[in-house]
Amino acid sequence: MEKELVIVLDFGGQYNQLVARRVRECNVYCEIYSYKTDIAKIKEMNPKGIILTGGPNSCYEEGAPTYSKELFEMGIPVLGLCYGAQLMQHVLGGKVEKAPVREYGKTNVRVNQASALFTDVAKDTVCWMSHFDYISKTAPGFSVCATTADCPVAAAEYPEKNLYAIQFHPEVLHTVEGTKMLSNFVYNVCHCSGDWKMDAFVENQIKAIREKVGDGKVLCALSGGVDSSVAAVLLSKAIGDQLTCVFVDQGLLRKNEGDEVEAVFGPEGNYELNFIRVNAQERFYEKLKGVEEPEQKRKIIGEEFIRVFEEEAKKIGAVDFLVQGTIYPDVVESGLGGESAVIKSHHNVGGLPDYVDFKEIIEPLRDLFKDEVRKVGLELGIPEYLVFRQPFPGPGLGIRIIGEVNAEKVRIVQDADAIYREEIAKAGLDRDINQYFAALTNMRSVGVMGDERTYDYAVALRAVKTIDFMTAESAEIPWEVLQTVMTRIINEVKGVNRVFYDLTSKPPGTIEFE
Ligand code: XMP
Repeated sequence: MEKELVIVLDFGGQYNQLVARRVRECNVYCEIYSYKTDIAKIKEMNPKGIILTGGPNSCYEEGAPTYSKELFEMGIPVLGLCYGAQLMQHVLGGKVEKAPVREYGKTNVRVNQASALFTDVAKDTVCWMSHFDYISKTAPGFSVCATTADCPVAAAEYPEKNLYAIQFHPEVLHTVEGTKMLSNFVYNVCHCSGDWKMDAFVENQIKAIREKVGDGKVLCALSGGVDSSVAAVLLSKAIGDQLTCVFVDQGLLRKNEGDEVEAVFGPEGNYELNFIRVNAQERFYEKLKGVEEPEQKRKIIGEEFIRVFEEEAKKIGAVDFLVQGTIYPDVVESGLGGESAVIKSHHNVGGLPDYVDFKEIIEPLRDLFKDEVRKVGLELGIPEYLVFRQPFPGPGLGIRIIGEVNAEKVRIVQDADAIYREEIAKAGLDRDINQYFAALTNMRSVGVMGDERTYDYAVALRAVKTIDFMTAESAEIPWEVLQTVMTRIINEVKGVNRVFYDLTSKPPGTIEFE
């Protein structure tokens, strides 16, 4: 089914994914492409609108990212944001230069002209600014519709040509009415109808999967995480018992997690799934014996996972398709979408198809952002506690135990982590903090308990607030909560006599310890 499309042309700004997410929140489908995308390809995609993102360059400098004038002459509405706004003005004959005053942060913007873009937006509104350059003179035909104390052109428009330029960032939450502005653009300027809805997505995907799979057999590596759970349930709705889900308990899961996953997806669970649980704890511990180096540990865990998975695939036999829980940020971050630097070529657990002989990969969530995956999950009736789970890395506790991994250390970190999670939930902090867990430092120190000397491990508590997991701040947890967690861990978890709270942000730290 043909759906409406708005294109984000990425000029290297840090908020490129956010722009697309916000547009999709307005129920309009949106994809990110590099500014190097050919005009012919853009025409072929027939977008209802085009949004140009911010970027780190100065558009008047030689070699800066640019686009031909033709982009603005196709009759397709264009909205330029920050760099995109400057570029639009520069290419169409306006003037952009270094600003006498650099604007950064929350800024009061005054809307001084009725504009389709600012319908229902307050006359004085707070917006997020981040720029060195500014538009000192608009291009012919444009009129200024908003200003700030330091910026004579905070927004400009040429409504007859459907061209709009905004110096600030409507996609950032600090721009209080930003979503309204983007919604105004897609509805009032691009005249979208808003056909991007998750119920329709589910219906269309089910149809597409049935067509693709025919009567073939499909294998899905189910980790119990959000993406693989949603993918599994979607596939199961589409093709029923042609699907087999393999869940590998590698002995590095959180406390009781194996049983919890089985309770939901296993024979007694909510779904009629061919569910295979492989208890592979011992073979993982065996492989990890004596290994301390983080990258080596990761490789061993990843490799062993594939071996287990392969064995199960062989037992089932004649499997044509493999399901992968790839989501849109994975696609963009792998450099297949926008212009931002390749950060990591991401693979979900089990998603390493090169090793096994499959006819084809099915990636039903490939077009979705994480929040959309969650919406699909709810649409499919997956319980909320699964849908809103915090991320858990593929190598599991293996990278939360510094140094060598063994069953005893796994038990300690599982128990400490369970207490921590319980107290965070009890304090009502679980929806505010994006990721939190206990880790086992490899440090042992002297303590005293009940008049006796102890020589035990130190547990580290981590909790971060983050939007994209690329950068993060350590979360401020009330002291009483931390104290309760500390007391309970020391009293209830044998082998621990100290508890640390990790204050490090990312960068310079990472979220995980290894
Ligand atoms: P770092 O530690 O790199 O983590 O700051 C950023 C986010 O990614 C998760 N993470 C992983 N997820 N496989 C995964 O599926 C991995 O190997 C992996 N390593 C880190 C981490 O939990 C955090 O959310």
